[in-house]
Amino acid sequence: MTETHWHPVLRASKLKKKPRAVTFEGEKLVLFRTLNGVSAIADRCPHRSASLSKGRVIDGTVECPYHGWRFNGKGVCTHIPLAEGPVKNRLVRSWDAREAHGLVFVTRDAKAAGEIPAPTWDHQAQVSRIWKATHTRR
Ligand code: FES
Repeated sequence: MTETHWHPVLRASKLKKKPRAVTFEGEKLVLFRTLNGVSAIADRCPHRSASLSKGRVIDGTVECPYHGWRFNGKGVCTHIPLAEGPVKNRLVRSWDAREAHGLVFVTRDAKAAGEIPAPTWDHQAQVSRIWKATHTRR
């Protein structure tokens, strides 16, 4: 069994109004700002597999660019255009995400990962890689 830690995945200043795609443990995630902080969910719409990171953020939810389904920070579908009544059983996998030390951190399990540690030299190397990645990609 592997240990669970918080992992920095993006400079916080790079997460603005638009959702951002990142890779974490081999999975494609979309990061976005909710009304309560940052969230990380799978970057794949359960409807027709569009990339949610190409959508937009509306009222703390990420909207799929293809047909407009919206998902909250827990990956729950909260809106389907033209659908009436509550939305059921439309989930996207979610991860725990937090902003700290100028970075966005992600983990599989916030409770097991504990507190986000203050930056160390190990983090500095990872921060440097994130900085290079987010400043050389579009
Ligand atoms: S593919 Fe996302 S709403 Fe249809």
